[in-house]
Amino acid sequence: MATYDLVVIGTGPGGYVCAVRASQLGMKVAVVEKNATLGGTCLNVGCMPSKALLHASEMFEEAGHSFAKMGVNVSAPKLELPAMMNFKQQGIDGNVKGVEFLMKKNKVDVLKGTGKILGTGKVEVFADGKSQVIETRNIVIATGSDIARLKGIEIDEKRIVSSTGALSLDKVPGKLLIVGAGVIGLELGSVWKRLGAEVVVVEFLDRILPGMDGEIAKQFQRILEKQGFAFKLGAKVTAVDTSGKTLKATIEPAAGGAAETLEADVVLVCIGRVPYTDGLGLKEAGVALDPRGRVQIDPHFATSLKGVYAIGDVVAGPMLAHKAEDEGVAVAEIIAGQAGHVNYDVIPGVVYTTPEVSSVGKTEEELKQAGVAYTVGKFPFTANGRSKVNQTTDGFVKILADAKTDRVLGVHIIGIEAGEMIHEACVLMEFGGSAEDLARTCHAHPTRSEAVKEAALAVGKRAIHM
Ligand code: FAD
Ligand code: NAI
Repeated sequence: MATYDLVVIGTGPGGYVCAVRASQLGMKVAVVEKNATLGGTCLNVGCMPSKALLHASEMFEEAGHSFAKMGVNVSAPKLELPAMMNFKQQGIDGNVKGVEFLMKKNKVDVLKGTGKILGTGKVEVFADGKSQVIETRNIVIATGSDIARLKGIEIDEKRIVSSTGALSLDKVPGKLLIVGAGVIGLELGSVWKRLGAEVVVVEFLDRILPGMDGEIAKQFQRILEKQGFAFKLGAKVTAVDTSGKTLKATIEPAAGGAAETLEADVVLVCIGRVPYTDGLGLKEAGVALDPRGRVQIDPHFATSLKGVYAIGDVVAGPMLAHKAEDEGVAVAEIIAGQAGHVNYDVIPGVVYTTPEVSSVGKTEEELKQAGVAYTVGKFPFTANGRSKVNQTTDGFVKILADAKTDRVLGVHIIGIEAGEMIHEACVLMEFGGSAEDLARTCHAHPTRSEAVKEAALAVGKRAIHM
């Protein structure tokens, strides 16, 4: 008799959510976690700490630069970085405790240690030099991802840092050089820029935020440049000399050519993340990986080994916490004999900068490439009443609809609170809704979300306020 119905390895948003759902469905569940705290990358060194610092640094920036114009006169704010880091830590602790509570509430056993799969139905858990073998009917691998490294550039998490070190710097760097204009580079670059660093971002491609709608990315770059970001696009960092007091980075054009040297106090390497499968014993157990080192799964999250499933960052797809969570729910339901599934066409993405950038569905570039005929409706926040009175008018909403059926295929927003506004588009798209459906849905006034309705009206060339 197996001790458990399900053992989940890893307690990030994929793993702990899967455990909760499985328990709700009547399974006896255990999670295995090698870190001292539960919650994975997201809660400990990812989504949550970065959002705490983004919030705190935005308040600092606002107090210094936006209050006076509204007639709120305060003296120039002073940064107390240890207190800001403490604010961040309190947020992490609160959320981690929340996951511990959820495990208890749902009667999920927490096994502290490193999990290794011995074969179908067997997980070995190592901790403090001891090991125990757990018997289980099913196993879910939810071991997440790790930072991608640059050859020849060693991350010491002090001067050459990954996102983890960049979330815990003990002073504001005079000059921060960021390698990679992706989500981490722009979010953490924003944090340190607001706190006083000079920020230069070196990006291999000729644009920022690859994968996001090109028009949105262009406007976003212009806004970030106005905020003081400097971009070196089409370039790569090939070496960092750490011998002196300041770092000297060698930058080469991506297409080849003369190198230049840039000095920096801190270099942040954020060029993507890679699946994490170290120590899991996958090869010996017979769990196949794909050519990119991700655990290979079928459409029902099943790996090549019977009774073993995988979800989250360790499998293909966007490396996002909510994607991992939804897969966690779906796989628990599938194991319970239900029809769990994830709609990969409707997974929102948000960059939590100021302004925020959010997106769901297809970009204009993707539709062009697929040869889909589409109509575009756009509405700028300069024409939105609420944005005008708040004097936060940067950005616009863009809706892409099928030219024949009017079905919404993609929504892209750049603007304050864009990350909250995207969800009405997600619901609409889940129901296969049209731009007309959205345009005829009453939106509260005065809200920024009225710009979403206006963009939907603009698909039919009948926006009211433009
Ligand atoms: P993880 O969260 O990585 O969790 C995996 C867990 O497995 C870890 O706790 C690890 O210790 C454990 N583990 C690994 N191997 C073993 C083993 N053999 N035995 C036991 N335990 C093991 N996503 C968003 O959607 N929104 C954001 O705002 C966002 N911000 C981010 C900011 C940063 C700086 C970073 C780095 C990432 C961010 N992400 C964000 C991405 C998000 O963190 C990941 O997509 C998400 O955490 C993936 O969840 P997961 O459950 O697959 O894996
Ligand atoms: P990313 O994939 O978003 O961006 C990496 C960038 O680095 C790309 O623009 C790429 O072209 C560039 N690059 C790659 N190699 C390079 C090189 N040698 N020199 C210069 N540039 C190079 O990855 P990032 O920012 O590291 O984030 C990792 C993951 O974490 C992402 O997949 C993202 O999904 C997730 N994340 C999500 C957040 C959110 O949802 N708000 C926040 C932070 C991270």
